[in-house]
Order: sequence, then C-alpha cells, then structure tokens
Amino acid sequence: MIALGCDHGGYDLKKEIIQYLESKNIPYKDLGCDSTEAVDYPVYARKVTDAILSGECEKGILICGTGIGISIAANKVKGIRAALCHDVFSAEATRLHNNANILAMGGRIVGPGLAIKIVDTFLHTDFSNDERHINRIAQIED
Ligand code: RB5
Repeated sequence: MIALGCDHGGYDLKKEIIQYLESKNIPYKDLGCDSTEAVDYPVYARKVTDAILSGECEKGILICGTGIGISIAANKVKGIRAALCHDVFSAEATRLHNNANILAMGGRIVGPGLAIKIVDTFLHTDFSNDERHINRIAQIED
C-alpha cells in the first residue's frame, strides 16, 4: 500500500500519479490535499509519515511545489527516509543505498512523464541489503 500526500503545488502531479497507480493495480491511500487551494505541506507530510510508521502503508509519495519543504518536514520524523528525486538514477540509488521509504517530488519541477518513470523505479527497486548501507542507515537512525 502506497501513501500519497501533497500540497496545492503538488496536487496536479498527484492526480497523474494516481492514474498511473490505478493503471498498474497498485493499491494506494490518498491522504490529501484535495484541490489546488493553498494548504500547509507539513500537515500532509505528517499524514504520510504516520501511515508508514503505523504499518498501514509500506512506502509514501509526497509532492509539493518543489518537493523541498515536504521532504524536509517528512525527514524530521524518526524512521522516515524521504528522498527528493527528480531523475531516475537518484530514485534507483536511494532505494538501493538508503532504503528510502518516501519519494518526494516537486510538481512545479518535473512533468508527468518523467515523474511516472521516477515513481515506477522507486516502487520497483528493492533495497540492496548490503551491510555497508545497513550500517550507514543505522547511523542515521542513531
Ligand atoms: C507552496 O507555495 C510552496 O512553497 C510549496 O509547495 C513547496 O514548494 C515548499 O517547499
């Protein structure tokens, strides 16, 4: 189950991602927001981090205008590793090396075609389970 959250700057891109998830039968939970009316991105970051930490969702996708504010907010939560990715290489690397549990993107930065390739890569790349990376993630948690 994938948790989705956005602010007004990410709302249009979130709709494109929902279409992609539905076309691939990937289950998701849309935690808002629900329009392009201005809202505060930390609220939606928190909804998605809660859904992951409770075990209800395995991974999350967060979108604001740049992806920056919403990823900063999510990364304040212990156990969350939110990766801001605007290219496919980073999306793959952050799963392999950082075991990122949230993908963050900027709806004003990437178009839907690239964003969907980034999402697809993020969702379908497993953590490497390499000891070096496990050790580094443990250091982040400490
Ligand atoms: C909202 O205007 C904008 O500040 C927000 O979407 C995001 O880009 C913040 O980092």
